[in-house]
This record gives sequence, C-alpha cells and structure tokens, in this order.
Amino acid sequence: MSEKTARLLTTLKLQPVVPVLIIEDATHAVPLARALVAGGLKAIEITLRTPAALAAIEAVAKEVEGAVPGAGTILTPAQYEQAVKAGSQFIVSPGTTTALIEAEKDYDASFLPGAATATEAMTLLDAGYDVMKFFPAEQAGGASYLKSLSSPLAGITFCPTGGISLKNARDYLSLPNVVCVGGSWVAPAHLVTAGDWAGITALASEAAALKG
Ligand code: 3PG
Repeated sequence: MSEKTARLLTTLKLQPVVPVLIIEDATHAVPLARALVAGGLKAIEITLRTPAALAAIEAVAKEVEGAVPGAGTILTPAQYEQAVKAGSQFIVSPGTTTALIEAEKDYDASFLPGAATATEAMTLLDAGYDVMKFFPAEQAGGASYLKSLSSPLAGITFCPTGGISLKNARDYLSLPNVVCVGGSWVAPAHLVTAGDWAGITALASEAAALKG
C-alpha cells in the first residue's frame, strides 16, 4: 500500500461518518467545523459546489484545531490544485477521469476517486487505487449491491456516499469492504443557516457513535 493510501485510510478511519458539506457562506465554515469536531467528526469534506468553498477550506485548515479538511466534488485538475492550495488534506471526486488521476501525482494530498460499478472499480484498481468512494450509493444499488462486490473485488475498500443517513448507515458500515460512509445529513442547511452549532454537534455525536 502506498504511503498516500495509508494516510487516506488513517483519515477515513477517524470516524464512521465523513460529513459532506455544501457551504454557502464562508463565515459558517469555522463554527460548523468546530461543531462537527466537538461531536467527534474530524475529517470533513467541503464540496466545491459553491463560490464560498475554497475560502471555507482555507479557514478550517487554519483555524479549526483537530479538523482534517478535505475537498469534495473535485471535477478538474484546476479544482484539484485550488483545493490543495487551500489546505485540503484529501480530495474526493464523484467519479474519475484520466486527468484527475494524472493531477493526483503532482500533490501530496490523498485522492479518494469515485466508482459506481464493478468495471469502474476495476479500472481504478488497475490505476493503483484500492480505496474509493462508492457514489451515488443508494441510487447505484445500495448496501446490497456493495455487499455483492465484496467477494469478487475483495481487495477494494469503499467509502459509500449519496442517500445515506442515520437510518441506513449501519447497513453499509457492517460490510467488510466499507471503511466509513459519507453524508450531508449531519449538517443540514436549516441548522447551519440558523447557526445552531449545538444541534450540529448533537447530530455529529450520534453519527460518531455509529458502528457496523
Ligand atoms: C456527496 O457528494 O457525497 C453527496 O452529495 C452526499 O450525498 P448526500 O447529500 O445524499 O448525503
């Protein structure tokens, strides 16, 4: 296993749930990340779906002790570079392109590429990745689909995300080929907008206590 993959696994093993964040207002980033860390969720994926995302990553990287900031929804090498420069320690993509695989080689941050089928997972394995995101998890076949990959693709470890919540997270976490899940449910927009950081810490604590 490469040193980068080992680092990625260490990050993903910090908690059962990686929060997937869509931050509209960069001033929310620090209190939101602090609330998640207080609840036990240290690795935090901030998606590049909003103009505030890069400033949010930078603020979390600089100001939130204990947080491991990562960037999600990385679609291009340019975004890869921006996210790393902002302080991301891991980079997540919903799928994979050759350009992203090439970009990854230029940086120290670990890459969690996305796959949704056996062929995509095997293509990534061929390219040297044995830890990947399974996305969109529920819509692509859910926990039973992922379970059926665990024997033929026994060497691959997944972080499923997409449609996962407190209700179905255990179905995934109990699988032998799942290291953690990702989800946005721990930081719902209404709590973020209201600045209800205690409410988010409560959701994070609930998620951090999940076991397979
Ligand atoms: C992701 O990028 O991983 C997903 O958007 C998270 O999916 P969710 O909002 O259904 O948790």
